[in-house]
Amino acid sequence: MEDTGGRIRQLRRDLGQHNYYYYVLARPIISDCEFDRMMVALQVLEAEHPEYADPHSPTQRVGSDLSKEFNQVLHVYPMLSLGNTYSEGEVGDFYERTVRGLNGEPFEIVAELKYDGTSISLIYEKGRLLRAVTRGDGTRGDDVTANVKTIRSIPLKLMGDNFPDSFEIRGEILLPWAEFDRINKEREEQEELLFANPRNAAAGTLKQQNPAVVASRKLDAYFYYLLGENLPSESHYGNLEAARSWGFKVPDVIQICRTPQDIFDYIARWDMERKELPVATDGIVLKVNSLRQQRNLGFTAKSPRWAISYKFQAERAVTRLNAVSFQVGRTGAVTPVANLDPVLLAGTTVKRASLHNADIIEGLDLRIGDRVFVEKGGEIIPKIVGTDTEARDMMSGAKVCFIPRCPECGTELVRPKGEAAHYCPNETGCPPQIKGRIEHFVTRKAMDINMGPETVEDLHNAGFVKNAADLYKLTVHDLLSLERWADKSARNLLESLRESKNVPFERVLYGLGIRYVGETVAKRLAYAFRTMDELAEASLEALIKVDEIGERIAQSVIAYFADEGNREIVSRLKEEGLQMSVSEEQLSQRSEKLKGLSIVISGTFSLHSRDEYKAMIEQHGGTNSSAVSGKTDYLLAGDNMGPAKSDKARKAGVKIIDENEFLNMLTE
Ligand code: IVH
Repeated sequence: MEDTGGRIRQLRRDLGQHNYYYYVLARPIISDCEFDRMMVALQVLEAEHPEYADPHSPTQRVGSDLSKEFNQVLHVYPMLSLGNTYSEGEVGDFYERTVRGLNGEPFEIVAELKYDGTSISLIYEKGRLLRAVTRGDGTRGDDVTANVKTIRSIPLKLMGDNFPDSFEIRGEILLPWAEFDRINKEREEQEELLFANPRNAAAGTLKQQNPAVVASRKLDAYFYYLLGENLPSESHYGNLEAARSWGFKVPDVIQICRTPQDIFDYIARWDMERKELPVATDGIVLKVNSLRQQRNLGFTAKSPRWAISYKFQAERAVTRLNAVSFQVGRTGAVTPVANLDPVLLAGTTVKRASLHNADIIEGLDLRIGDRVFVEKGGEIIPKIVGTDTEARDMMSGAKVCFIPRCPECGTELVRPKGEAAHYCPNETGCPPQIKGRIEHFVTRKAMDINMGPETVEDLHNAGFVKNAADLYKLTVHDLLSLERWADKSARNLLESLRESKNVPFERVLYGLGIRYVGETVAKRLAYAFRTMDELAEASLEALIKVDEIGERIAQSVIAYFADEGNREIVSRLKEEGLQMSVSEEQLSQRSEKLKGLSIVISGTFSLHSRDEYKAMIEQHGGTNSSAVSGKTDYLLAGDNMGPAKSDKARKAGVKIIDENEFLNMLTE
């Protein structure tokens, strides 16, 4: 018989060693999935043999968000979690425990919303933000100060003067719904993996290596916990009010409750009203108000006894995970999809759920055949939120791991640094990538060629078309050799190809399918460089000078044109007569509607870019100047315009208009 104690000790030693390789040396020597397998094996053995329990076992660690690329910092006060409750009954139990814990002394409860983002701890010294640290494993977190400094709602310097010399404040970093939708729409257009929910998006953004990317996604931060010596108040509520006066975003929906009924009323109210909030919430947090009473109640190993969370009910169903398939998209991004037994959820039948990426699969610890919980929260696509490990039996299937190789062409997948997605790098040899690029090229928003995915498939399978340029070599004879093609349909397609040669340059550029170059980016690049040749030779500096073109896009454009194969396709398309520059006609769509007017542009816009507005002003005879002066006629104001600029404009009697008013001036 096997020596169970010895096996458990061995697993603990090995896992400890691999933790060290991963977290300390940042050089793991086994895959995350293998690590997980060992962890599961240990968990199973420990559950079966409680006599070997050990609080220092690697299984006892709380979940960690530590990553390799950031400096790690010890938390002065550990970042604990909260006990969860799911019913009024359990909330009542918490209330009763508190009554007993305080020996019947009266107490108040502060009710707050539980914000569903990623937690952050900020340290301020002498009124200035010193450091921002993620939760990490609760004891140590990642120093993400540079990224956090880009979040506008976080004060870098405090207001007033009644703050302690040194203190810590904790809160939640959130991605508002509107911004979440905007980013996912953009990602969809660029065939990047979608964020599952605002929480993942916020956490992912905070771990970006490039603070400029963080700044471009408008994160927000709400605060709910002040720590330190010499705090301004002996009550939690008082401290939050003080923090608000120093410039922190402390939600004003916090409320003092004096009876269990007050708490239940708060829960009932916010279970409804939270749907109107700009950010995601997943419950209520209840905290004893008096700090003295908090100290008396103290902590358990994992959470405070003076606080608890109540989780809102999401619409949830239970079903069976039958299989996980992996789909390869046009850019080579690989998306895992769960195939489920059909189940009714929030009025629709759900058969599939996106598993998003390797991290999410890892976090869920799934086996084929598992009974899984499927929820439709704020997300568009249903998601698997957990698995019923207790329902597992000897028959349960293999652990679900992300595949190492492309399911279509067998090439080893790569995961770029800082990204959640895996890609198949075999761009020119992987069928769904080849077909996907052609499908993209012919879409309405690009070349608008009259051809569906089946035709692309047939043409590719018959060996006629491997890239966009091959399309223009097709003959009636080629098409007639395929099944289901007749003379008329063949001629129609060739006519459509001929017509596509008039499609404007920016759409040709979009059609090339350069990663991160969506419709809007293509337009921006087209107008900034005017010709394909200029764009192909553009330097990194020249590219990032263009409004809203960051390094990531710039690098992608450079990489595209550095590839000999791509250059050849572009040059063949040019020979075929496709539009490779912004036409004179586009350039000459001029009028004199703004003649003699001096217009200053400030802020960020949603309908057009600043460059486009600048071009429009010039196109219509106006002049665009950079600073407001006595000569300025209009200030075209977008979002996030500095207050100094609008003050100055008002004082100078300059008319302030928004983008709609401006566009109306052009169409009047
Ligand atoms: S108080 C010791 N208040 O929930 C108490 N936490 O499971 C510390 N959270 O890690 C937390 N809204 O990320 C507190 N109003 C709120 C909260 C909140 C969201 C998160 C936080 C924490 C987790 C606790």
